[in-house]
Amino acid sequence: MKKRTILLFVYSLLLLWIIHSFLRVKNANEVVFSIGAGIHEIRFLKELVNEFEVKNPDTKVRLNILPAPTDQQHHYYLTTLGSKTVDIDVMRIDTIWIAEFASARWLEPLDSFISSEQRASFIPIIERNNIFRNKLYAIPWNANIGMLYYRKDLLDKYNLNPPETWEELVDTCTKICANEPVFGYLWQGKQYEGLVCNFLECIGSNNGGIISNNGRLIVNSVQNKIALDLMHDFIWKYRISPPNTHSELMEESSRHLFQQSKGLFLRNWTYVWDLCQEDPALKGKIGVSPLPKFSHGNSTAVYGGWHLAINAYSRNKKQAWQLVDFLTSPEVQKELAMNLSWAPTRYALYNDPELIQKLPFLPIVEMVLENVLLRPNLPYYQWISDVLQKYVNEVLSDQMGSDEALKTIHKELEGMRNEFAAD
Ligand code: GLC
Repeated sequence: MKKRTILLFVYSLLLLWIIHSFLRVKNANEVVFSIGAGIHEIRFLKELVNEFEVKNPDTKVRLNILPAPTDQQHHYYLTTLGSKTVDIDVMRIDTIWIAEFASARWLEPLDSFISSEQRASFIPIIERNNIFRNKLYAIPWNANIGMLYYRKDLLDKYNLNPPETWEELVDTCTKICANEPVFGYLWQGKQYEGLVCNFLECIGSNNGGIISNNGRLIVNSVQNKIALDLMHDFIWKYRISPPNTHSELMEESSRHLFQQSKGLFLRNWTYVWDLCQEDPALKGKIGVSPLPKFSHGNSTAVYGGWHLAINAYSRNKKQAWQLVDFLTSPEVQKELAMNLSWAPTRYALYNDPELIQKLPFLPIVEMVLENVLLRPNLPYYQWISDVLQKYVNEVLSDQMGSDEALKTIHKELEGMRNEFAAD
């Protein structure tokens, strides 16, 4: 009797497990959209998903929400896409993963899904950044560029203009911070992808770079050394950036300081605009300008941005494309710009008067996009980034001199290039 009861119990458990597994199987009409973003962005996205479902009653969308930092999402995709998951259909991907994921055959080519007319309505980034071995793998969803946010009220109080050069930025910070309880310049110095963006912008603004247009390694240069020294000096010499810049400052931590009225200048992406406008402490007090430059250089911004791609192993590609098409449509991009200050990726929206009024920095984005700096579109970009992050951060934390760091980066990148040359 006792044995029968135990057996019955075990069978019931088994049955429950089978029912549970059966229910977990993805519905044939369900599209799983995987996205890492801020809480307020996810909240708005849920509204968009509802709109989509009303327009496409046969398709249900399930969100797979990931943490916002790009590096954490990258790790997630390496394991899930790497194991050929069928549980993701659409993904919001960082622009630096396209070559890596496409070369691993994790992304579905999109050429046959989009008409040439539609394709031409996107900013040229679509052709420069989303193509790998002649195939299109992603559709630009939001454009992102590094910009300089400043406290207009404080600059007005001291009768100063937003700086055009790094020298002016240091002078302005030194003057104002002597009298006001704010840090001068907030930026992203922690060892992660955001630091690479800040580094590339700073060296770019001194006519420096990592790889020349004809593929030569140019990292160990005088221009790069001057720029890297300046990044170090923001923290250690001029003391206009917080001492924990190299250990803690990322997009969100630097934004929080700025929104707590603890910063005069902030380097960040376009999403910060909307959050500052919604903040009663900052509304009306913020201005935006292009990032400063060295006196003989040009202001340089890195192209960030998040694009939409379809998992090559998805079983619902048709519905997945419907969702991509909807989310990247001009109407939805306008909603995203109006509500989240995401810069659009369709040309026409840059002339929309309502948008220009809501996002006064839009003409800056449009201008900057013409010469925006793209991170190398290479399958092994992550390895390049890891090397840059490590040694640039060692300089910022005052553990290595800039000469040695640039020499080491050159050596490591050279080794890497030989290793990957066959690809
Ligand atoms: C932003 C950019 C992304 C970049 C990341 C670095 O999210 O859009 O391209 O890689 O910041 O932290």
